[in-house]
This record gives sequence, C-alpha cells and structure tokens, in this order.
Amino acid sequence: MPVVSMKETLDRALAGRYGVAAINIVNDLSIEAVLAAAGEERAPVILQTSVKTVQMYGRRQLFEIFQALVRDVEVPVTLHLDHCPDRAVISDCLRGGWNSVLFDAHELDIAENLRQTVEVVAEARARGCHVEGEIEGIQGVEDGIGSDDASVQQSLETAVDFITRTGVDCFAPAIGNAHGQYRAAPRLDHQRVSDLVEATGIPMALHGGTGLSDEQFQDLISRGCAKVNISTALKESYLKSSLEQLEGAAAKGKWDPPALFAHQRTAVVEMARRHLQVFGSSGRAW
Ligand code: 13P
Repeated sequence: MPVVSMKETLDRALAGRYGVAAINIVNDLSIEAVLAAAGEERAPVILQTSVKTVQMYGRRQLFEIFQALVRDVEVPVTLHLDHCPDRAVISDCLRGGWNSVLFDAHELDIAENLRQTVEVVAEARARGCHVEGEIEGIQGVEDGIGSDDASVQQSLETAVDFITRTGVDCFAPAIGNAHGQYRAAPRLDHQRVSDLVEATGIPMALHGGTGLSDEQFQDLISRGCAKVNISTALKESYLKSSLEQLEGAAAKGKWDPPALFAHQRTAVVEMARRHLQVFGSSGRAW
C-alpha cells in the first residue's frame, strides 16, 4: 500500500517547488475518483477528511474504506485530518491510521494554542504521524468549522516562534485566502509565505484553494506552499454533475444509478486532474 507520511510528501514538494493537492473527500466515490486522477497523473496526493466526514461514517468505517480503495494505487497517498479543534477526534484519528492532522486551535489564545500543539506534536510523533499548525482562522465556514469574520493576522515573529517552539511539520498562514468561492478576487499576501518559509524551512499549507487562478497557485507554490487544499471544487463538481445527470434522468423518465455514479466520477476525476496539473505535481510520484 503506497501510504506515505505528510512530512515525506511535503518535504519533497517543497524541495521541488511543486504543490501536493490536499483534497477533501466526502465518501467512497470521491476517494476512488481522486485516487484515479492521481494514478493517471502519476502524482502524489493527500486525501483530507473533515471532522464532519469522520463523524458521518465513524472513524473505523471511514479508515476501512480508505484502506480498501488505496490498496492497488501506485502513487504516494497521505491520509490527513483537516481543521480539527477537538483533541478527542485528533487522538482517535492518530490512533486509527491517519498520517497527519491539522490541530486547529486558532480560537485559543496563542500561548494556550502553543502549549496544546506541543502536546499534539508529541502524540503524533509517538505514532510516526505529523502535524499541521494554525494560529489564525482561515475566513469562511467549512463543514461546520470556522467563521465568516476576516482573519486576524499575527506578526511574523509570533508565527515563527509558534512554528519553532511547537515543531509542527507544516503551517497554515492567513494570507487573504478564504474557504469557499471568493466573492471578490482575493489580494494575497504572498510575501508572508516567502518570509515564513525562509525563516522556518517548513512547507506552508495554502487553504481556500477553490477559486484561485493558475497564476496565484503557481506563485504561492514557488514560494513554498507545498500543500494546496481543495474542498469546495470537489463538492461543486460532484453535486453539479449529479444535478445535471438527474435532470436528464427526470426528462427521460429513466433512473439508472450506475449512470449517475459514472457521471459524478468523471466530473470529480476531471476536477482533480486539472488541479494536479496546475500544481506541477503530475509525474512526481516516486
Ligand atoms: P476551499 O473549500 O476554498 O477549496 O478550501 C479548502 C480548504 O482550505 C480546506 O481546509
């Protein structure tokens, strides 16, 4: 089984200045479709689960589905828990086979966030796992987590101090990015990415990938955003393709579940392939 750690996949991507797509999957069909896209592109990929998806299936069942679907895949795959403020869910996923977690404690004050992140990093290390850290909320609510309020950016010194003292493997900075579709073209603080990578040497996670332009992706990846998160684009490609197929079925009065699933799969594979190509990760499987 080609499961690799988040650290290995991101350190290679940072060194090669390409981006690894970290795609929020929602069920078995979307897991299989994203893995198929990665296989066709010969690209490493990170499958992310929101807390909501873990809770919908139950941790054990979701991991068993992942294991079954990743078994014959020939590219490097990492299973990551996205934004999780809940220490019990973090521990459960680390125990249950996830390779890495985003401990999202941005609602705590920095000192308490730092203290708890140190504990999460120790817990992860004991299981050979890795940690993404966050001190600034990323604007936008995703799967019930987050807020629509604008992010409050901490100083560069505060962020560097957090990264250095916690030993996180990856960091999610607020740079004007937001979850969900952008209402207006975002103005991104790309220099912050360069400054953080230069000061810490660790890869950055670019949240809010849906709706950024190819040029924005490529600029941020060249500065060290080795992990690039995509969630809304999967939901939209999945559900809009469903709607299209179901409207056709209604018009014809012909209801064929496998035809629906094939249509959904094609849309998700195409969405994932397009991002893998833009991020420069095609052909980077090792
Ligand atoms: P989008 O929903 O904007 O693609 O953001 C995904 C993300 O950052 C998940 O953490």
